[in-house]
Amino acid sequence: MVTLTRNNKITIFDNAHDLFQFAAEDFMHRALAAVNDKGVFSVVLSGGNTPKLFFGTLTEIKSYKNSIPWQHIQFFFGDERYVPSDNVESNYHMAYEHLFSKVPINPENIHRILTEFNDPKEAATAYEKTLRKVFQIKDNTFPPFDLLYLGLGDDAHTASLMPFSDVVMYYAKNPSPHKHNKLVASISITEMNNHRITLTPTAINHAKNIIFLVAGKNKATAVQEVLEGQMNPQCYPAQLISCVYGKTIWYLDQEAARKLKGDSY
Ligand code: 6PG
Repeated sequence: MVTLTRNNKITIFDNAHDLFQFAAEDFMHRALAAVNDKGVFSVVLSGGNTPKLFFGTLTEIKSYKNSIPWQHIQFFFGDERYVPSDNVESNYHMAYEHLFSKVPINPENIHRILTEFNDPKEAATAYEKTLRKVFQIKDNTFPPFDLLYLGLGDDAHTASLMPFSDVVMYYAKNPSPHKHNKLVASISITEMNNHRITLTPTAINHAKNIIFLVAGKNKATAVQEVLEGQMNPQCYPAQLISCVYGKTIWYLDQEAARKLKGDSY
């Protein structure tokens, strides 16, 4: 059953297994259509643990693994922890372990967020330059990612857009998506004593398709706050996400959706 609320299109699956099966099939069809149409498919991966289950479905089920045009996919990251690329906390490391090392991907098509700079701000600038170079885009235009995945933190963050962080406070106070052309920001996470590099809400919102993959009962409160709670993006940063080209897609399992009050989900 799907329904629309705000600018969201929500699909709820009985369980995580069904969610990731559907998401994998969806990914395969989107990739095949894009490669058939223009020879390339650009996808932005999210970090954390949820993608491990998704990548496992993509790589372990032969009908997906053997049909997806891996060689023609350009991979990007929505955010990165500011750690070495071989660190267990690295989103690139997680994607390598669970996806890149298991399928025939052209390494030149993997655009990781470099974390070798002394200053994370330089890393943000470097990633922004990479995006503009790969897509051949100038200022005031945005990477036309074919597909961008997001997760949702228990605190309603997404990518590395953390509640009350400088970037989130700025975008929450200046919501007009057309006023900003910054693609990438660096965020210091004081309580975790580390830094993050993240796509900005505007860069995310200009992806052609945005899909949240959210599973598990620990997400239920954040899901309800983001989708049905009062608009308060400083507190619930995922509310900053709204695809400018259509509906923002949410694939939820029953556990993550259990606090939703909407009667038509
Ligand atoms: C990260 C992610 C982050 C993640 C959520 C959900 O770098 O951690 O980009 O936004 O998607 O925190 O994480 P889980 O999938 O581990 O619940």
